[in-house]
Order: sequence, then C-alpha cells, then structure tokens
Amino acid sequence: MAGNIIGNKMGQPQKTVDVVVGGWFGDEGKGKIISYVVIIDSYENAGKGGVGTNAGHTVCIGGRKYQLSMVPSAFTNPNTKLYIGRGVLVDPKILLKEIELCEIGGRFYVDRLCPIIDQEHIDRDRTNYNKSKLGTTGTGSGIAQQDRVTRSDKLRFAKDVPELSKYVADVSSCLIDGMSRGEKVLVEMTQGAMLSLFGFETSQGLTYPQVTTKDTTAGSACADVGIGPTHVKDVIVVYKALPSRVGTGVFPGELPEESQQKLRAEGKGEYGTVTGRMRRLGEWTPEVFRLAKKTADMNGATQIAVTKIDMVYDGNKGERDYRGLTGDARSFIEKLENELDLPVTLIGTGEDVFDIVDRR
Ligand code: IMP
Ligand code: MG
Repeated sequence: MAGNIIGNKMGQPQKTVDVVVGGWFGDEGKGKIISYVVIIDSYENAGKGGVGTNAGHTVCIGGRKYQLSMVPSAFTNPNTKLYIGRGVLVDPKILLKEIELCEIGGRFYVDRLCPIIDQEHIDRDRTNYNKSKLGTTGTGSGIAQQDRVTRSDKLRFAKDVPELSKYVADVSSCLIDGMSRGEKVLVEMTQGAMLSLFGFETSQGLTYPQVTTKDTTAGSACADVGIGPTHVKDVIVVYKALPSRVGTGVFPGELPEESQQKLRAEGKGEYGTVTGRMRRLGEWTPEVFRLAKKTADMNGATQIAVTKIDMVYDGNKGERDYRGLTGDARSFIEKLENELDLPVTLIGTGEDVFDIVDRR
C-alpha cells in the first residue's frame, strides 16, 4: 500500500488538525473561540471553510472590535498563516478591505479556485424571493453557489481577479506541506450544523428550505480547505448559552416574544454581524438538548465550547476560573456534558478573546 505522504509511517497520517464548528444556527461565537485557541495553542496555519460572506464573526482583542466576514478569526495570532479554502465563495471588495483592516497582507492566502461573488449575484439575492421566503443574508452567497453548482460559464474564480493576484495560492497544497513539516492546522467553519443544506426534522417541522447553500459540518470544513478527515485530532463544537437564530424558519427553543423583548431591554439582544438583523432568542429546552446532541455527533465532536455564559447567568462576567463560576452556570455546563456525553472544555465569559474559562 502506498504510504500517506503526511505520515510518520506508511498509511498513518499525523493528526495535527483541529476543527471548530457551530452546533446550532450560526452565531454561536465560533470567532471568539477560534481567536483564543489560535493564540494559546500556537497554530502555524489556520484555514477557513464555509459558504461565503453570508457569515460574520466578531473578534474583540486589545480593546478593538473587528466585525469580519472573510478574513479568518484566527488572524489574532500574528505568527499564524491564514488561508481561505476553495470551498468558500469570495467577495473581493469585502476581502481586500478586511485584509487591510486586520493588517495581514504578508501572511494571507486565498485559494486560486475560490468562486467569486459578483455584483450580479448580490442583486439577484436581494430579490423578493430570497429576501422574504428564504430570509437569506442578501450577500449573493446563495446565488454564486447556485452558479457554481449549475456550472455556469459566467462564474469567475479568485485567479481571475487581478487585485487578488498577490494572495492567490493552492491552499490545499500549502496546508499539506505544512502538515508534512509537523505544523498544526486550525480549521474554522462558518454557520452552524442546523443551517446545513441537508436539513433537520424538528418538532416544528423541517429546517429546509430556510437553510444555507451547503453542508456546514466538520467533514465539509475539511473538504473546503482541501485536507482529508484522517488528519483531524479534535473537533470543537460551539454552542451559545443563549441560543439564537437570524432569519425566518423553524427555531426550536424560541422564547415567547415578551421574553425576547425583556432580554433585549436588558441589553441581551443580538444583531447579525452581516445583516444587522435582530437575532431571535431561545433557551435550552429538552428538544434543544436533543438536537444539540445530534449536531455534536454528526460533527464527530470531541469537545464542546460554550459561549456567553455571562449573558444567561449573572455574576460570571470575565471569570477565567471554573471554580469561580456561579452554581447555576456550573449546573448548566454539567447538564450539557451529561446530555451530550462530551467534555465542555472552553467557556466564554465576556467579549474579549481572553474572557474564557479554559479547562483543557
Ligand atoms: P443565505 O446563506 O444567505 O442563503 O441564507 C440562508 C439562511 O441561512 C438564512 O436564514 C440566513 O439568515 C442563514 N445564515 C446564513 N449564514 C449565516 C450565518 O453566518 N449566521 C447565521 N445565519 C446565517
Ligand atoms: Mg456569525
């Protein structure tokens, strides 16, 4: 049998890849978790998978708040090389702006074969159907994806965009070369499992068609950046203590309107990073636990990260020690561990990258 090129021994691939995925409807706070682990665990490489500019992530570091949709959240480690895999749709205008904002020009690569979101895709995404019935983000992502799947001859790729010429690369090869030198890779996925194109059956009905345009689990994340699943060591699935969803469609655990309003009045409301839309707010009902177990299992998760514990349980803001968390917060964490049969290793307690309880 031919040996695996990135193994110590023939056929034994090195496991130097970790994947971070969302376990709910996106906006779980993956950006915060990624921006923390990439620093603490010193990854040499970070690859981004996912759909396109429909996903946004917020990163707060050094008193600054970055709201991004193209640049990987892992930019917070200045020694990490950043990659966008060819699974991802790229909007060059947004990407170039973010590269400048984050000052990552010297260590950023976009795959030559990333499809380009053109203005025409954006215009078509903003038609009534997409905006009202599907409640899309209107970023053109779904329409560009459609062009890719139907193999339109109008689709452009990153290699065709002159402004991107100094950043284009074969990302899969870059990551595989890095791995063959023993380097670690952090893969970040966007959206969340419940937004997968494949759909879920819930007590309120099917999530499809109010879903995004591709699968959003860890397996797809690997395919997006061009590496095989045999290299993955850990999959960290992220959930938010206060579940949310933007856009239309079923939302198990959604709170009654009055309770949502009350939370917003207390400053606990959230607004979409990309669209500015008000996020619908929910709670951890038995069905949410059941579906969360399913999304963790489908991702092959080995660890759980929980974000925004301070939003639900008072007295936890900025805490960095597990024993310092309040009893009700710890009870929730323990319930989650029991129901999903996985360890909760990271717990977000505030906006800043370092507002986190790290139990690893
Ligand atoms: P599209 O991905 O723009 O086509 O939108 C399809 C559905 O997925 C809509 O309900 C969007 O609100 C939702 N969606 C897409 N990306 C994200 C995300 O990153 N976070 C939350 N919801 C998203
Ligand atoms: Mg988001």
